[in-house]
Amino acid sequence: MTQFASIAGTGSYLPEQVWTNHDLAQKVDTSDEWIRTRTGILERHIAAANETTCDLAEQAARRALQAAGCPATGIDLILVATTTPDKIFPSTACLLQQRLGCYGCAAFDLQAACSGFIYALSVADKFIRSGSHQRVLVVGAETFSRVIDWQDRATCVLFGDGAGAVLLEVSSQPGVRGVHLHADGRYAELLQVPGGISQGIHLPDYAGPVGTTQMKGNEVFKLAVNTLQAMVGDILAANGLQQADIDWLVPHQANIRIIQAIAKRLQLPMEQVVTTIAQHGNTSAASIPLALDTAVRDGRIQRGQTLLLEAFGGGFTWGSALLTY
Ligand code: ACO
Repeated sequence: MTQFASIAGTGSYLPEQVWTNHDLAQKVDTSDEWIRTRTGILERHIAAANETTCDLAEQAARRALQAAGCPATGIDLILVATTTPDKIFPSTACLLQQRLGCYGCAAFDLQAACSGFIYALSVADKFIRSGSHQRVLVVGAETFSRVIDWQDRATCVLFGDGAGAVLLEVSSQPGVRGVHLHADGRYAELLQVPGGISQGIHLPDYAGPVGTTQMKGNEVFKLAVNTLQAMVGDILAANGLQQADIDWLVPHQANIRIIQAIAKRLQLPMEQVVTTIAQHGNTSAASIPLALDTAVRDGRIQRGQTLLLEAFGGGFTWGSALLTY
């Protein structure tokens, strides 16, 4: 019998601390008006000094498991998509497994910047379809505030911290219907956090840049819009669907203007687009599962509806997923 992966439960978590645009205008030369009109962001959550990516992931994961009515011991694979892991190793997935107490199941991290959740969803879907695994916990979690130069107004106003999680389980009915993944490393330097262990950043004579986000925003913006507009058309065609078949677009939350451009391409009113960017900012790999969980919990997304997920991020990486919730 053909088997599929479907969503059994979702969860999310945001750190308590909130920084508004007005707070940031106290730190750098910016304004609420500039940030709001250029990005759609009003505020973002920022992890406390002692709060790590795994802390956020744990809360989101527990909520997803509770929503699914599944004990942690029922999981047989943990995937964490993150660009901001707690340690170089072990993986955040292994640290999360320790917190949840489901020892013995497979666990690994996956890094595809803002597209990380779509990549992880695709991996989970394939593990389940192959028959090797029954329940996969997929988490997108970030403390992106840790890789921000808080003096750089061009990037510091954009990002926030958070985590979202989905429990995928084997089903006889299609949940995940298709996932398309892409990358183009020629654009690596347009959006990056330079510096890394293999470059010797831990050595005393290392002189390169270390550790904060650099982005050619305008170039990324244009490429993101063009690429995503083409991609959403491709995934609908590949699955024999029309624009009218989509109930909800659940996009990566990088910029409200990018989201509006994709909605326009799909001829979808903004009422059918889940947007959390105003309150969350760009939480990288966490943004899609955060948006998904928000709309599931407030009752907008209902069982049986068709969702289109899409993301674009550093790498460049991009991807889309079609699923029945
Ligand atoms: N406040 C006030 N002015 C600012 C700020 C700020 N925070 N930041 C930049 N400016 C200024 C610039 O200095 C520039 O001034 P100038 O004209 O005097 O030179 C002017 O505003 C315009 O700057 P642009 O960069 O051209 O502004 P743009 O309209 O492109 O908006 C933004 C910038 C919001 C970053 C946009 O380009 C964007 O959203 N890009 C895509 C981001 C994205 O999708 N990233 C991918 C995912 S992230 C990931 O993978 C980690």
